[in-house]
Amino acid sequence: MLTLQPDLVALLEGQSRRWLVTGSAGFIGSHLLETLLAHGQQVTSLDNFATGHRHNLQAVRESVGEAAWARHHFIEGDIADPDTCVAACEGAQFVLHQAALGSVPRSLKDPQTTHRANATGFLNMLVAARDVGARFVYAASSSTYGDSPTLPKVEDVIGRPLSPYAVTKYLNELYAEVFGRCYGMQTIGLRYFNVFGPRQDPNGAYAAVIPRWIAAMLRGEPCTINGDGETSRDFCYIANTVQANLRAALATQDAAVNQVYNVAVGDRTTLNQLHAALAAGVERERPSLQVAQPAYADFRGGDVRHSLADVSKARTLLGYEPTHDVHEGLAEAIAWYVANAAA
Ligand SMILES: NC(=O)c1ccc[n+]([C@@H]2O[C@H](COP(=O)([O-])OP(=O)(O)OC[C@H]3O[C@@H](n4cnc5c(N)ncnc54)[C@H](O)[C@@H]3O)[C@@H](O)[C@H]2O)c1
Repeated sequence: MLTLQPDLVALLEGQSRRWLVTGSAGFIGSHLLETLLAHGQQVTSLDNFATGHRHNLQAVRESVGEAAWARHHFIEGDIADPDTCVAACEGAQFVLHQAALGSVPRSLKDPQTTHRANATGFLNMLVAARDVGARFVYAASSSTYGDSPTLPKVEDVIGRPLSPYAVTKYLNELYAEVFGRCYGMQTIGLRYFNVFGPRQDPNGAYAAVIPRWIAAMLRGEPCTINGDGETSRDFCYIANTVQANLRAALATQDAAVNQVYNVAVGDRTTLNQLHAALAAGVERERPSLQVAQPAYADFRGGDVRHSLADVSKARTLLGYEPTHDVHEGLAEAIAWYVANAAA
């Protein structure tokens, strides 16, 4: 279970509110669900198990206990179906919208399926949330910076999208802004930068780099680095992402609403550095294991070369303060993967 800062605990536990978390069987959504239930909240959650897993919901149930789990209502359904979104939003004060198909390569291979979940599904959720008057906090993405060379990334300066996935995430922001302007709806977009942590799926063709590499290391296989390894990312531990969602939902300043924010640490790690840090961490947890040298392959289409966030807007308007830098996050994540691989 992730630890929340004391002021957020007090804010949550001071009042039981009604939340909808979409994508709750996935990585980020399952942590939001767990945190909300652990702190006394009423939560409906929605997932169609496209990439999420029942075992993530089971893990949340075991973590929070039966009394807290009884405050949760799960709906198995697809956000591409408007009626499902309406049913899920019933009574919600806050929507934390995470459901989408991640992965740039998936969107390059099958743009229509990505569009259906990320664009049509997003619009359905936005309409349903508007109609119940809920504040809508949604997972945007650093991919919206596209081909902009500016570093660090500041919210107002974006480039052209480099993949169908990036198009959908930018479209989300455009719709949210217009719903604010045209319907007076409260929306907040959180541009996540490479989130990682426990329960992120290590399997499948579209797995994110950190869980995929930890799993390969634990199997004694070499990791593949796409490109020369000098590609860099602002890797962000899940506790920071959960914090940003809660601060966005509970923000009281008018100026904080109808905005998009970078959610990251503000630090850049190259893939070569990441590999070295993961290898050291895995060898620390499993002293019998010697991690193999990485293999290098071609650059991947649609990937941006460098990513580094300026998080001062979230600091100033939301009071966001990352609790974990990349090394603290990796230590927790590696320990979790090692413990769960052994189980
Ligand atoms: N993980 C990251 O680094 C990262 C970075 C930027 C943005 N994001 C965004 O954050 C959100 C959550 O990502 P995640 O890493 O937890 O991914 P995930 O794949 O673990 O979770 C997404 C969840 O959404 C569900 N889902 C997908 N399509 C659906 C549909 N049509 N109807 C209902 N449920 C559906 C999946 O089954 C899954 O449980 C996504 O919107 C993603 O685009 C993630």
